[in-house]
Amino acid sequence: MTVRMKLIAGVALAAASLGFVGAAQAQTKEVQILHWWTSGGEAAALKVIKDAMVAQGYSWKEVPVAGGGGDAAMTALKAMVAAGNNPTASQMLGYTVLDFAKQGVMGDLTETAKAEGWDKVVPAPLQKFAVYDGKWVAVPVNLHSVNWLWINKAVLDKIGGTEPKTFDDLIVLLGKAKAAGVVPLALGGQNWQEATMFDSVVLSTGGPDFYKKAFNDLDDDALKSDTMKKSFDNLAKLITYVDPNFAGRDWNLATAMVIKGDALVQVMGDWAKGEFKAAGKTPGTDYLCVRFPGTDGSVVYNTDMFAMFAVPADRQAAEVALAKTVLSKEVQAGFNINKGSVPSRTDVPDTNFDECGKKGIADLQKASAGGTLFGSLAQGYGAPPAIADAYKDVVTKFVHGQIKTSDEAVQELVKAIDDAK
Ligand code: GAL
Repeated sequence: MTVRMKLIAGVALAAASLGFVGAAQAQTKEVQILHWWTSGGEAAALKVIKDAMVAQGYSWKEVPVAGGGGDAAMTALKAMVAAGNNPTASQMLGYTVLDFAKQGVMGDLTETAKAEGWDKVVPAPLQKFAVYDGKWVAVPVNLHSVNWLWINKAVLDKIGGTEPKTFDDLIVLLGKAKAAGVVPLALGGQNWQEATMFDSVVLSTGGPDFYKKAFNDLDDDALKSDTMKKSFDNLAKLITYVDPNFAGRDWNLATAMVIKGDALVQVMGDWAKGEFKAAGKTPGTDYLCVRFPGTDGSVVYNTDMFAMFAVPADRQAAEVALAKTVLSKEVQAGFNINKGSVPSRTDVPDTNFDECGKKGIADLQKASAGGTLFGSLAQGYGAPPAIADAYKDVVTKFVHGQIKTSDEAVQELVKAIDDAK
């Protein structure tokens, strides 16, 4: 900053601090972003937004908080906000945005939203979480979905396997991998990963209507049904195909097992695709991206929002610039091609997306039109955080043996969700 600019800024700040009306407000050209995108693919995607902001003259300050799924990041964020140290924005999942909005700590981007026409291009299920009390408090950065199976192609061919179309086909395929001495199912034994996989198992076992009733409507009869018991039975079958060292493994290390061919498949959201891309792998050649068997036609989604916080007047222009940049069509394409997700606005062409990206975009259009687009319970779009946490806790206790039977798991799930309401 030149001496002249410093002088102007100093005068403006002094004027502002003395409450002089009309003094030009010196704008701080800096954004601070809290996030948990610390893997290779996630960092490559975030760099697209960073580069776009730096190109506009903004300095970019990150507050990275490692820990897939975001629980650690939200703990850190709550401490910052409680200390009155709001970041410009934070990566955040659906229902948590509404919780922060209820606290009255969010900014208001409604004017910008109107000027940019976001209501015309951001799908309604995303606006449900980005708009609170008529005000835009967040911008959707992407649309991820969790009901994916990632398959190492060379291992699949080596064991003479084919794409599984049903849950039973998947169990047969995992058995083939086991017999061939390959880890069948790569899993990170952390509650959010196990619950993210269970979202797909429930959809596959009970179908779309059942998933919606149980994990979006929290319908008691669905939660305590034989179908939910069967879903836990199916989860138990899957867990017999993980390696002995799965407990505590980070999600991207499980993805790396499939990338390297040390494991046959991973059940994971399409942020896993970002790791394959960062590793230089080609869909259809090195790996397959297929919908979790029995879930084709449905999309269980979670969107990464940038929740925009209330910031002092001198930081508001930077916040608006960040929001507009994130939702620009160019950044939407560049970011999501790297992240593995699909754009959060409906008018971004799939031209530069690979076959997995094109499939994700096509699946979203079909699911949106067909009423088979559902919020992921594990990933913050099925129910408020307390309920999602209760769900994750029951699933992880079942996976790690603290809950012994499917019947007990169903009882614990119903009770835990009731207690969390
Ligand atoms: C999800 C988030 C993804 C990715 C994943 C792994 O909650 O939506 O963008 O960060 O966690 O950490």
